Amino acid sequence: MIPESFIQELLARIDIVDVVERYVQLKKAGANYQACCPFHSEKSPSFTVSPSKQFYHCFGCGAHGSAISFVMQYAGLGFIEAVEDLANSLGMPVPREVGAHSQQKARQAPLTERMAQAARFYKDQLKASPVAIEYLKGRGLTGEIAARYGLGYAPDEWQGLQRVFDDYTSPALAECGLVIDNEQGRRYDRFRDRIMFPIQDQRGSVIGFGGRVLGAGEPKYLNSPETPLFHKGEELYGLPQARKEIQQQNMVLVVEGYMDVVGLAQSGVENVVATLGTAATGINIQRLIRLADRVVFCFDRDAAGERAAKRAMEVSLEYLVDGKSIEFLYMDGNQDPDEFVREHGKEAFLRQTLNAARLSDFLVRKLMQESNTHTAEGRARLVSEAKPLLQKISAPVLRVQITKEVAKYAQLSQAELEAQCGLKSLAWNRNAPPPQGRLRPAPNALERTLLMTVLRRPERAARLPLDLIAQDNAEGAALVAVADAIEHAALLSGNLGLLIEYFRGSAHEEIIATISGRIEEDAGDEGEQERVFIDTVERLHEQALHRQIEEMNAKARAGALSTEERQTLARLLSRKRA
Ligand code: UTP
Ligand code: MN
Repeated sequence: MIPESFIQELLARIDIVDVVERYVQLKKAGANYQACCPFHSEKSPSFTVSPSKQFYHCFGCGAHGSAISFVMQYAGLGFIEAVEDLANSLGMPVPREVGAHSQQKARQAPLTERMAQAARFYKDQLKASPVAIEYLKGRGLTGEIAARYGLGYAPDEWQGLQRVFDDYTSPALAECGLVIDNEQGRRYDRFRDRIMFPIQDQRGSVIGFGGRVLGAGEPKYLNSPETPLFHKGEELYGLPQARKEIQQQNMVLVVEGYMDVVGLAQSGVENVVATLGTAATGINIQRLIRLADRVVFCFDRDAAGERAAKRAMEVSLEYLVDGKSIEFLYMDGNQDPDEFVREHGKEAFLRQTLNAARLSDFLVRKLMQESNTHTAEGRARLVSEAKPLLQKISAPVLRVQITKEVAKYAQLSQAELEAQCGLKSLAWNRNAPPPQGRLRPAPNALERTLLMTVLRRPERAARLPLDLIAQDNAEGAALVAVADAIEHAALLSGNLGLLIEYFRGSAHEEIIATISGRIEEDAGDEGEQERVFIDTVERLHEQALHRQIEEMNAKARAGALSTEERQTLARLLSRKRA
């Protein structure tokens, strides 16, 4: 483990322009430098390096990061190797530490290492098993795709893994779910005579496996249990392989099975991931909408598919953000995506995705299926079915749209339906149409905007009203962490590259990387950014004020307001009007 302070020192001393220039010829363009992007092929330069931010960004492919990530990406090095490489170029010796932070990692390291060893073993076993190879070939897979997804084969032996692990009795093997201890205390391999699909986290470490029987048998798929490494409800199968294409297409396809992912990739559709066995979870959905602006769920047209679709729709409602599109697609015929693409090919499959139903249409259609709106009773039923769904929708503008649509079928006015469903009108004042810019934002929209403006100019963090920032969302939590870090290390504030490295490996890494990848896009000029920042902080205050007033009002209605509190309420109300 390299101490954090060393990374900071390294990044403070190194100039990203020098680092990039070792590999790419840069041209000065205003305050920045430009070049044709080394990470994708292009004719006109969209790759920029900012010496003031110590940050690079490609408008074409979205590649971005610090000097360290540049070296990692360009030279294909791991984090530690990249740090060593840069430190060497400055003649700085790299110190090592064993800290608390690294101890937790160290505790997990043997598990990850064991999973990697097992994956290698299964991979080798596949090469040695003509039957398994035949099976995969029979399903239309080439060696290239099998290698890309690291497919393997668990041999038909009770203790095959003994060949990999000298300490087959180690508790660690049970902890990572590779073996099972039976009641007689005998230990044997969990996966036997199965095609192995390694499940990787977003960094590419193997954290679990899915194993399919060759041919018929029960269960068809056997999966790793929950372990310290593997949390089924959080992971997306195939993400590391799909990431680049997802970025490029700004669209992610979500399918139900391992084979659907691999089969689609085989046909050249690579922006595909699968949820793992369970229907999509909130964590899945949050991650998916961060990956791309368009998320398309593909389901089989069977009872299980219907159920999964309905569930995914319900969960999606809670995480919707205006401007993102979540769509649902039932495959034509009785086929799953893997079967469909094998029979009809990539183009036909992509044509299908164009017909996916937008979440709003999907929801309304589902409701309409369940109620007969030709009768008053049916329309009443429609309203009661719609109520819990409408209440869940987090994206304010979309909620109005869907409410209007449902109201039409229910033969109610929008206001009537809102009242029936206990929806707060979006306007502060129920009777007035909502003035522009006053829409209630999605739960973390404000935090997101703040994080964006703060990453553009980290010194803004000092001006955040930290006590008003909700930390139950990734953006808010990251925002507070950034402010905290800057307070303790002022060095971080002028240097986005450094800031990104500071959060590498932390819970905030992903959101900070995602947002910083966007900050160069429609950034507006500095004045504009500052106005957005000030305006957003203002809205946080407004929200807090509004909440306070609502609480007071509720108390007032219950007749529980003291004279003093009544005065406070009056003061708050006059502040709101001001
Ligand atoms: P399906 O039964 O639809 O299988 O399960 P599939 O993906 O079409 O697989 P092939 O084409 O027959 O090989 C979809 C997903 O549900 C989970 C797995 O994640 C699978 O990919 N599943 C299914 C299990 O975990 N266990 C099972 O026994 C079956
Ligand atoms: Mn299938």
